[in-house]
Amino acid sequence: MTTENSSLTGKTALVTGGSRGIGAACAKLLAARGATVVVTYSKSADRAEAVVAEIAATGGRAFAVKADAADADAVKAGVAEAVDRLGGWLDILVNNAGIAEHGPVGMMADAVFERQLDVNVRGVWHTTSAAVPHVRDGGRIISIGSFFSERVPYPGVSAYAMTKHAVVGMTKGWARDLAARQITVNTVEPGPIETEANPDEGRWCTRWMEGEMTPAPIRYATTRWQRTEFGRPVSSIRFRTVTPMAASACWEAKPRARSRGPISAL
Ligand SMILES: NC(=O)c1ccc[n+]([C@@H]2O[C@H](COP(=O)([O-])OP(=O)(O)OC[C@H]3O[C@@H](n4cnc5c(N)ncnc54)[C@H](OP(=O)(O)O)[C@@H]3O)[C@@H](O)[C@H]2O)c1
Repeated sequence: MTTENSSLTGKTALVTGGSRGIGAACAKLLAARGATVVVTYSKSADRAEAVVAEIAATGGRAFAVKADAADADAVKAGVAEAVDRLGGWLDILVNNAGIAEHGPVGMMADAVFERQLDVNVRGVWHTTSAAVPHVRDGGRIISIGSFFSERVPYPGVSAYAMTKHAVVGMTKGWARDLAARQITVNTVEPGPIETEANPDEGRWCTRWMEGEMTPAPIRYATTRWQRTEFGRPVSSIRFRTVTPMAASACWEAKPRARSRGPISAL
């Protein structure tokens, strides 16, 4: 395929949760740069196949593999199938599959808490654990974290923030574990990105948080955060599109990320 940047030609990549949103954007950009890509999904087979078809239509190579990140056995089988489809090895793993559920402590159902742990933490662990033996020396592991591991600006997101803090911990540890093999490990920590999980007019947006549907303490805290944290009033949380987000993940997949990435042991 003809691209302005074929820096990943000959490389293979696995993107979890690649059927839409940030994962789909990462998969398309990695493929546009020459990598052969597997995208995983849990429910959206048709959406994943559409991503694969879009990549193929522009001359790239991609496959879709079902692998529920919340199910350790399914993850192991999915990674094995992905490696098989990719010819027996991996160069790039993007841990993207993730969910976010709203609920202050004391009000979140146990099952909702556990589900976030299963997908966002255990899923990342099991995927990486299954993938590492197949990652070639000099490979890249990139996990999509969140700015919630830097700050928690409003109530109701403690469980999600906890899972993204866990991603940082795993990343730092894996960078040490895999440094001898020259495998670079990074997190990319986006702010709000407009996706189906986080639409610009959705439940996480300022309009919702300041709206009448929102419990008063959250509305109050959100307004206070906006007025105090940045020292000036802001009319809305600024959303970005998936493209710069994916570019950021692809940048981490470049060799120079070894010395310039935000979190690297090398
Ligand atoms: N959007 C934001 O503002 C934002 C900001 C910071 C960080 N992030 C992080 O970025 C990542 C992607 O977010 P997004 O906004 O692109 O979400 P999204 O639009 O909801 O897409 C999520 C993707 O993950 C897949 N997925 C969900 N649960 C899965 C599971 N159990 N097993 C395998 N795949 C699963 C979905 O496929 P299925 O439909 O098949 O399940 C879908 O392809 C997440 O880790 C999220 O925490 C997002």
